[in-house]
This record gives sequence, structure tokens and C-alpha cells, in this order.
Amino acid sequence: MSTITNELQIYKGLEGIYADTTTLSNVNGKEGILTIRGYRLEEFADKASHEEVIYLLLYGKFPNKQQLKSFVEKISHLREIPEITINLLRAAASAKNHPMDALRMGVASLSIETGEIFGDVGRERNIEVGLRVIATLPTMLAAFWRFKEGKEAIHPRKDLSHAANFLYMLTGQEPSSARERALTTYLNTVGEHGLNASTFTGRVIVSTDSDLISAVTGSIGALKGPKHGGAPGPALDMIFEIQELGGIDQAEKYIRTKLDNKERIMGFGHRVYEVRDPRAYVLSHAAKDLFQDRQGFYEFVTAIEDKVIKLLEEYKPGRRIQTNVEFYTALVLHGVGLEPDIFSSIFAMARTSGWIAHDLEQLENNRLIRPRIKYTGDFDKKWVSVENR
Ligand SMILES: CC(C)(COP(=O)(O)OP(=O)(O)OC[C@H]1O[C@@H](n2cnc3c(N)ncnc32)[C@H](O)[C@@H]1OP(=O)(O)O)[C@@H](O)C(=O)NCCC(=O)NCCS
Repeated sequence: MSTITNELQIYKGLEGIYADTTTLSNVNGKEGILTIRGYRLEEFADKASHEEVIYLLLYGKFPNKQQLKSFVEKISHLREIPEITINLLRAAASAKNHPMDALRMGVASLSIETGEIFGDVGRERNIEVGLRVIATLPTMLAAFWRFKEGKEAIHPRKDLSHAANFLYMLTGQEPSSARERALTTYLNTVGEHGLNASTFTGRVIVSTDSDLISAVTGSIGALKGPKHGGAPGPALDMIFEIQELGGIDQAEKYIRTKLDNKERIMGFGHRVYEVRDPRAYVLSHAAKDLFQDRQGFYEFVTAIEDKVIKLLEEYKPGRRIQTNVEFYTALVLHGVGLEPDIFSSIFAMARTSGWIAHDLEQLENNRLIRPRIKYTGDFDKKWVSVENR
């Protein structure tokens, strides 16, 4: 949305503004095509390991066998978290903090081991710090979650993949290959997505020659909000509430009530996509595979999706509000056995490599990000002492 104020064009929410160039991803909102480092998302999301995708994001190409082997080894050796972080997460759990707040504090605490660093320390050092963040974030999340449940944290394992190790640390059990694959597909699908709010936040932070840990900490803060990463929990609630009300016949009434109350339907609408989000396509297939044994459940969910789209068109004609990534995120993460309260933090876990790749790209050709804002207040007011106000 843009408005003109005294000859100045104001782009509220910076909508439609190109702030820089990138070789990381292209979000084609008109056709619903997401290209990551030259590959369409559908090309690799359900096939690659998450380590391969992290490598792709950081280094610009998929690794060969040898490169992948040493990369996997490297990440798996970086998974343990410092004692001070464990204590912090334990305190956050007893204070009943939100997992995103716990992660934000946990990541910030890594500065204890990096010491004083600034953004211009060089790509190699920044990659080292970035990999430490990528490798430890799942450990932090799993530890916090277990503390919250009154359990002890489980040490990471080096022999498991990024996704499998996370599920192992969370539950104490190695996941089935179907769950590992579904979580990996999810992580691959949402790892990178243009100049979204949290990525932009990180780029703004490193553009000041601050540091990567500050940038990821800020990005987590931006991702926490329901307009960005907090939608899948409520999307899943909607599915179960409709189910409890009696099934698909109750969907229309339920959705109408929400829209009549001016509520937003979570998992629908996007600032860039005018058609169905391509990530919803990948994740709906992953969900279909996961729910093979739960008869009719996947079909029930797709019927809800159809109803929502139809009603959004009726209530917001011409807006073309379509399914976004969060609707099927909810379903996949539920199928993996995760609870809604942890969903946005899993999103953070996935997006970390995208954030870091953007932060590195920003530093390669940095220019301080400093837009302007049009002042619309008064001028030339006179000072009046507090006694006379
Ligand atoms: C994601 C989102 C913030 C992007 O929207 P945006 O480009 O900023 O668009 P706006 O918030 O300006 O909304 C435009 C119009 O569509 C409506 N709209 C957008 N998404 C809607 C939704 N999910 N449910 C109901 N109405 C919606 C708004 O109410 C607004 O209507 P109005 O102009 O009559 O007031 C928005 O679609 C949303 O809130 N979706 C639900 C949350 C969600 O799923 N977030 C995850 C995003 S990946």
C-alpha cells in the first residue's frame, strides 16, 4: 500500500520496495514459484538432507560427497551448548517463558563464548559463528522444552542428522525415518524466503557492522509475531476445533463466525503471493504421506482449506487471499508429533541458515540500511516549564 504525502511517496510496510539484490532466493508471488539458489523448491525440498540445504544456502551450491561428509561432521561436533546457556534455559522454563523468548535469550548467550566481535571479522569467522548458531539452536530448543516438562536435557548425538538429532533430544527416542523425513522436508521448505521481516531485521543489524549473534537474536524477535512465524499453532487449533464441533459440515459456520468477528484466518494470506504459496504445495504432499494411516484426516483438512478460500473470496472479494505456508506447516509438525507451542521455534530453527546466509551476503557488499520517515508532527512549538503545563 502506498500513499502520497506532500509529493512524497510513502510505502507503508515497505511493500513492493526492492532494498537490494540477492542470489539467495526469488519469490515469484504472481506465479507462486520459489527459487532457491537457482533451484525450484519442489526440486529438492523432499529429497535433500537439511545439511545439504544449509550448505547450499551458505556456499551457493550443493556439496559433493566429500564436502557433505566433512560438513555433516563439522555441524554435528558443534551441537553441545555452554553450561551458562543451559542454566539460562532452565530459568526461562521455570519462568514459563515462550519458547521463542527462550531461544532469543539462548542464542544471545552464545556471545559468552565468541567474546567481542563485530560484523567485519571476515566471512570465514562469520561462517564459524553462524554454524555454531545453526548447530546449537536445536539443542537449546530441545533442552528448554524438556525443562518445561520437568525433565532433564538430553545431550546431542553426532551420528544423527540435524532433524533426527533434534527429535531425539526432544523425546529421548530416535524418530522413525518417516518423521525424520517429514521434519527435514519442512526445514528445507522454510529455510529461505527473500526479504521477509526477520531476514530484513538481521540484514539491518549486520549493516551497522554489528555481529551475527545480534542479528540472529533480532531475527528471532521479529519471527515471533503471529503475522510472521506464529500462525501455525492457531491454524492447527482451527482444524481441531472444527473437528470437535462435528467435522466438515461445521466448517462454514465456524469460519463465517471468525470472519464476521473480523478475525484473520491463520494460514491464509501473504504479502507477496497472489496465488497458493508453493511451500504449501510441498508441505501438503509431506502431510499426505504422514497421515496415510489416519483415515480421512488429510482429506478433512484439504476440505477446510477449500472452504476457507471460498469464504475469503466472498468476504474479501478480489483480494485473492490464498493458503500460505503456515496452514500445512501446522499439519506436518503435528504429524511429526510436535505440539503447537513449539511450532514457531521450529520455524526459527529452519530459518536460521537463511538468516545467516543473508547476513553474510549483506556484509559482502554492505551499505548501512537507513531509510527515512516522513515527519507529520508540529513544528516550532515553544518550551513550557513543567509547572506551567
Ligand atoms: C500474512 C498477512 C499479514 C499478509 O497480509 P498483508 O499483505 O499485510 O495484508 P493486510 O494485512 O493489509 O490485509 C489485506 C486485507 O485482507 C484481509 N486479510 C488478509 N489475510 C487475511 C486472513 N488470513 N484472514 C482474513 N482476512 C485477511 C485483511 O483483513 C485486509 O482486509 P481489509 O483491507 O478489508 O481490512 C495476512 O494475510 C495475515 O494476517 N494472515 C494471517 C496470518 C498468517 O497466516 N501469517 C503467516 C504468513 S506466512
